[in-house]
Amino acid sequence: MTLTPVLSRSWDQKSSWTLDAYRATDGYRALRTALDMAPDAIIAQVKDSGLRGRGGAGFPTGLKWGFIPQGVGPDGIEKPKYLVVNADESEPGTCKDIPLMMATPHLLIEGVIISSYAIRARHAFIYVRGEVVHVVRRLHEAVREAYAAGLLGHDILGSGYDLEVTVHAGAGAYICGEETALLDSLEGRRGQPRLRPPFPAVAGLYASPTVINNVESIASVPSIIDRGVDWYRSMGSEKSPGFKLFSISGHVRHPGQYEAPLGVTFRELLDVAGGVRNGHELKFWTPGGSSTPILTAEHLDTPLDFEGVAAQGSMLGTTALMVFDETTCVVRAVLRWTEFYAHESCGKCTPCREGTFWLRQILQRLEAGHATEVELDQLLDLCDNILGRSFCALGDGATSPITSSLQYFRDEYVQHLGTGCWFDPVRATVFQTSEAGA
Ligand SMILES: Cc1cc2nc3c(=O)[nH]c(=O)nc-3n(C[C@H](O)[C@H](O)[C@H](O)COP(=O)(O)O)c2cc1C
Ligand code: SF4
Repeated sequence: MTLTPVLSRSWDQKSSWTLDAYRATDGYRALRTALDMAPDAIIAQVKDSGLRGRGGAGFPTGLKWGFIPQGVGPDGIEKPKYLVVNADESEPGTCKDIPLMMATPHLLIEGVIISSYAIRARHAFIYVRGEVVHVVRRLHEAVREAYAAGLLGHDILGSGYDLEVTVHAGAGAYICGEETALLDSLEGRRGQPRLRPPFPAVAGLYASPTVINNVESIASVPSIIDRGVDWYRSMGSEKSPGFKLFSISGHVRHPGQYEAPLGVTFRELLDVAGGVRNGHELKFWTPGGSSTPILTAEHLDTPLDFEGVAAQGSMLGTTALMVFDETTCVVRAVLRWTEFYAHESCGKCTPCREGTFWLRQILQRLEAGHATEVELDQLLDLCDNILGRSFCALGDGATSPITSSLQYFRDEYVQHLGTGCWFDPVRATVFQTSEAGA
């Protein structure tokens, strides 16, 4: 398997986050090309590339840009357009956007300028998770450098195009990663999802046409403009072309970010990451964060693209591959995730607000050995009443770890009845210590 470092190509360069270092690796070359193109030609190129959103849902990026109404509306007014970059990255296990922004913030800024130019936006926002203060600082500094170099602001590179960029720090709520909750938060309100329609492309930020894209989606744009559609499509599969950052964490020998073509199998990536830590076996893994149904060792040969993972009953999500070996109690892991969802539920809709509360209660009873077999069915019943009945995808995501773990590990749930959790943190610590010494 060959890795394809494009987004991560200069992560190991000295001071890679500076404008000088970025320019030394052909940074901002694509911007010059883009500013010589018509905006619609850029949208067409991104459409033809087949780039799909990297925030989880995989919506085609060029198609989304094409939904932005251009020109004067029926009311005789031309509304401003906005680009909003979703840099909230809070899904458990997901850790790709933060290293990207730390290592090469200018790659994101170059993508922001090209994307804004394509949709005719004059103001772009980067909504970044507030807890990652180091990233916020790095982005502010990179934006300052870009303004000073004439890459932002008035008449960018003498093209006549003007763009302002605002870096906005959120207050640290998972729900503010949901695109419409993000918009409410950015407008200064409490972050809760909005009813759709109207979709953000028609009435988004300040009720104006808005494109919201993930950091990795926007950072993929400069290379598509610079190197073309055929080059991009030479990687990945027909319906999921291109490269992607895969974040491997947990019980592997070399956790980290691995940039590879979409369609790479989980087995191949696990090999590159050194395999499961010494003396242990794979028990279960998530393909794309905790909201995607877990898979097991049976699914090692799953191609990691949108279609391949869906065929196994899960989702590619954010390609956050969390790996768990046999020392992990699946019920305890699922309880931890469920505690997260119950805490992060915004409370707007009843199925998610009340449902995640009850899911957590039952899992806590299971862990303590107080639950009965009837409660296993109640867990599934609750999930059934949350999935598809919640206002946004947070509720759906909360059910994924529960239903999938009951599908593959029901016996382990049954073992908890009456006895509680067998997981021994001391034993796990011993494993970790001996591994560290190995
Ligand atoms: C609860 C929840 C949290 C989300 N968090 C993020 C996030 O942190 N970053 C992100 O890009 N998308 C997140 N999304 C997905 C966004 O709503 C949206 O689909 C995405 O930003 C669109 O960008 P893309 O088309 O480039 O993928 C989240 C969705 C939900 C339901
Ligand atoms: S599903 Fe959960 S997070 Fe989403 S709107 Fe309902 S209560 Fe809020």
